[in-house]
Amino acid sequence: MSNSNEIQACIFDLDGVIVDTAHYHYQAWKRLANELGFDLTPEQNEKMKGIGRMQSLDILLELGNIQKEKKEKKQLANKKNEWYQEYIREMQPENLLPGVIPFLEELTEAHILIAVGSASKNAPTIIRQVQIGRYLDALIDGSKVTKGKPDPEVFLKAAEEMGIAPEHCVVFEDAQAGIEAAKNGGMRTIGVGSPDVLSQADMVISGLHQMNLEKLKTLE
Ligand code: BG6
Ligand code: MG
Repeated sequence: MSNSNEIQACIFDLDGVIVDTAHYHYQAWKRLANELGFDLTPEQNEKMKGIGRMQSLDILLELGNIQKEKKEKKQLANKKNEWYQEYIREMQPENLLPGVIPFLEELTEAHILIAVGSASKNAPTIIRQVQIGRYLDALIDGSKVTKGKPDPEVFLKAAEEMGIAPEHCVVFEDAQAGIEAAKNGGMRTIGVGSPDVLSQADMVISGLHQMNLEKLKTLE
């Protein structure tokens, strides 16, 4: 009989957890804000992390006190995405954040399943470029969900695809909205980043280089 607290799967957010693309998203949104005549601070950007492209744009336009029609919004989002894709075009396995591969190897050896749950429609491209597809038991990206984080849909779908109940999953997230989403789905959470920003998580680490199986098991 398995312990009801047993960790059977880890679900990773992608941007800001596996790769440093959270920074590229910020650069592209900042560039768009500048073009629209205002600036975007890193603090303001925290609220845009983890959520879908169009919702992020809505937050940005609100910050700039700008109203746009639907068609123009689509054009602005496309423009941001083109800049973002320019940044990620050259990504390679070397761009994985420190500690990612050793931890994925450790999980695989321990037969703990692995998924990526990301709001990004660019997630499959990035995963291909950094070559971590072979570790994944499930990949749920922005094109497979209808409700963005903090709704738990993305993580619940990942758990379902792996055949693991939410209470046996741990989610790794760098975004407040992502921690909330995992909690809403009944999962345990590890914040990746600053404890000030991710205070709602069960544990906070600065990066996956600070993670290993033994530490993960302390959540059981
Ligand atoms: C999330 C990022 O992973 O994906 C957000 O944290 C981003 O910043 C969202 O807006 C959507 O990404 P994309 O690549 O579909 O525009
Ligand atoms: Mg993220």
